[in-house]
Amino acid sequence: MINLIRMSDLTTEQVYGLIHRALALKAGSPPLHRSDLFVSNLFFEHSTRTKHSFEVAEQKLGLRVINFDTDTSSVNKGESLYDTCQTMAAIGCQVLVIRHPKENYYTDELAGLTVPVINGGDGSGEHPSQCLLDLMTIYERFGRIEGLRVAIVGDIKHSRVARSNYHTLKRLGATVVFVGPEAFEDKTLGEMVDFDTVLPELDVCMLLRLQHERHFGTKLSDITSYHQAYGLTLERYKKLKQEAIVMHPAPVNRGAEIASQLVEADKSVIFEQMTNGVFMRQAILEHIITGNNL
Ligand code: NCD
Repeated sequence: MINLIRMSDLTTEQVYGLIHRALALKAGSPPLHRSDLFVSNLFFEHSTRTKHSFEVAEQKLGLRVINFDTDTSSVNKGESLYDTCQTMAAIGCQVLVIRHPKENYYTDELAGLTVPVINGGDGSGEHPSQCLLDLMTIYERFGRIEGLRVAIVGDIKHSRVARSNYHTLKRLGATVVFVGPEAFEDKTLGEMVDFDTVLPELDVCMLLRLQHERHFGTKLSDITSYHQAYGLTLERYKKLKQEAIVMHPAPVNRGAEIASQLVEADKSVIFEQMTNGVFMRQAILEHIITGNNL
C-alpha cells in the first residue's frame, strides 16, 4: 500500500514529480476526475489551511468527501484510532487524510490498516503535504532547490514543518541553517546560528509559528523580546536580498514571528503557499489514488 506519512516515503524523483504535477495543475492541466471514490478527512487537531485545502483539492478531483467530526464521533466513547480508521474503510472510504497530536501515530496505532493514509501532520513529527507545497513554492520562484540558502527560524523543536523541510531541503541540495532561542533547538537536526549574520545571504527565510500548545512549561511569555531577537522585524526585512522570499506555514502570530505589516510584503509568499497547497494536495491525492490502483 502506498501512503504518504513522512517525506522519506518519497524518492527524490517522486518529490520533483509532485512539484511538476502541482505546477502543471496550477497552469490549467486537467486533474484526475474520480467521482466514484470516497475520501475522509480525520482531523484530531485544529486546522484551517490543511483541512480546507485538502477538501478543496478533493472536490476539484470530483471525490466524495466525508469530513469526520471528532467532537460527535465515537472517539468520545473511547474508540481507538485504529478502530475509527478501519470503520471508515469498512463503510467505503478509500483514502484517509489524518492529522493527529500523537507523533508517529501511524506506526504506533495504525499497523494493519487496510486503507491508504495521507498524513496531515503528526504532533511534532512530520507534515509532508506542507513540505511539498513549500518546495513547490520555492521551486516556482527560483526554478531550482539545489544550491539555495534557507534559514528555518523559530520553534524548531516542536515543529513538524521544520523536520519535514529540513531533511528534504538538504536531500535536494539546499543549505539549511536554524535560527531561534536555544530552548527551541533540536540537537538531532543542528545548532542555532545568529539571525543577523545569515540574513543577507538567504534565498529563503522560512519562519515558524511558536507552538504554544506543545510547550509544556517552556512557553515564551515575552513576545516582544522574542520578536526583537528572532522575529522578522522591518529592519531585518530590509537586509534581505532583493530576490529573497519570506515563508510561513501559518497561522501567523503577527508581531511575534513576523511584523504584522510584513505578512503581505513584496517578498512574502505566505498566501501563495496556501494557494499552492491546493494544487499540491491535488497532486498528492492523484499519486495515492493511481499508486494504489484505486
Ligand atoms: C502548520 C501545522 O499545523 O503544522 N500549519 C499548517 O499546517 N499550515 C504549522 C503550525 O501550525 O504552526
